[in-house]
Amino acid sequence: MTRTLLIENIAELTTNDETLGEGLGGRIADAAVIVEGENIAWVGPTHEAPAADERFDAAGRALLPGWVDSHTHMVFAGDRTAEFEARMAGESYAAGGINVTVNATRAASDEALAANLERLINEGRRGGTTTFETKTGYGLSVEDEVRSARIAGASADAVTFLGAHLVPAGADPAQYLDLVVGPMLDAVAPLVTAVDVFCETGAFDGEASARVLEAAAAKGLATRVHGNQLGHGPGAQLAVKHGSLSVDHLAFLSDEDVEALAGSWTDWRGGAGERGTVATVLPACDLSTRMPLAPAKRLVEAGAMLAIASNCNPGTSYTNSMGFAVATAVLQMQLTVQQAVRAATLGGAIALGMHEDGWVDPRGVSHKRIGVVAPGARADLQLLDAPSVTHLAYRPGMPLTSAVWHAGQREI
Ligand code: NIG
Repeated sequence: MTRTLLIENIAELTTNDETLGEGLGGRIADAAVIVEGENIAWVGPTHEAPAADERFDAAGRALLPGWVDSHTHMVFAGDRTAEFEARMAGESYAAGGINVTVNATRAASDEALAANLERLINEGRRGGTTTFETKTGYGLSVEDEVRSARIAGASADAVTFLGAHLVPAGADPAQYLDLVVGPMLDAVAPLVTAVDVFCETGAFDGEASARVLEAAAAKGLATRVHGNQLGHGPGAQLAVKHGSLSVDHLAFLSDEDVEALAGSWTDWRGGAGERGTVATVLPACDLSTRMPLAPAKRLVEAGAMLAIASNCNPGTSYTNSMGFAVATAVLQMQLTVQQAVRAATLGGAIALGMHEDGWVDPRGVSHKRIGVVAPGARADLQLLDAPSVTHLAYRPGMPLTSAVWHAGQREI
């Protein structure tokens, strides 16, 4: 018999299911949750909760889905403190800094890369993150990209191939693109679930980016785009046109870009089937690069599907605090707390295609859907040391993570 756990006396439960509770967060007051093995078996008011093998008293605190961090670059070595200091003194961010990390990553051992990834994942877990995507992209040779993907797959829940991060120093751009869409993609494909491209001046232009997306699709892989980060460009439109799962960054968007992102969801009814491209904003990165903040509120109001992620990497966003990203999205990007929390949980799940049952992790294990607290979903939960998710923005920067369950197991 599978053991059951009753979490009771939850002052505010965010389910992200509007059929279960009130408002956008599907909130239930004075709630309880029953976890059975890896999954959620029941949610409802505490006074209606069935019996269970074990009990956990939430003591008037808020429970919500674990954060889904859908955009990170955590397979790397080295540190770019000097570059950050120079930026804070007035230098602007240039993608060329990526080469510094490429050199350090190539020189590092497998063990050092894996240990650094595990360190970052543990930091994220302590802050309430239960699902981690990570990209490759600091190897930029066939051997180093394969190695990065393999190391990522041992710890992360989703691995994205980003050979098209930058043309490495000394390489010919046309030859490097041929390598990325040819032998490098062939070698990495069995280890990843999606392919990404940095579509930006100084990285890959629209035409080169389209080649990467087409090559990925020909292999049956999902795609993502880094787009509209450092200036206006074709990234957002390209992602919609190619049916990418998400386009990420989005600091520089025209009205047409916003319309295209919103329009991509017009006919979506949830779950499987024709879906759109998630607009993923990365508030910590916008702050750390002193770029304009992505227009998250405009995107939501237009009807786009929003995700919030940390973009943890040593160059533009050396944090994997999703609590910080959510607080910034509320305080600086003008989102409501409910909108920001939903974007950092269910939004991330949709960006990764994990909002449906049956998604498969890099170890080949199939899981129930995530991003919601609803019967049948995977029991990925975080308990705040606060009575409401509003405290995430009301008390920014405070360590509010009180307990974390991942697939039903208590982690924190
Ligand atoms: O998402 N935009 C490109 N890639 C990373 C930055 C990587 C770096 O500077 O090391 C990003 O911000």
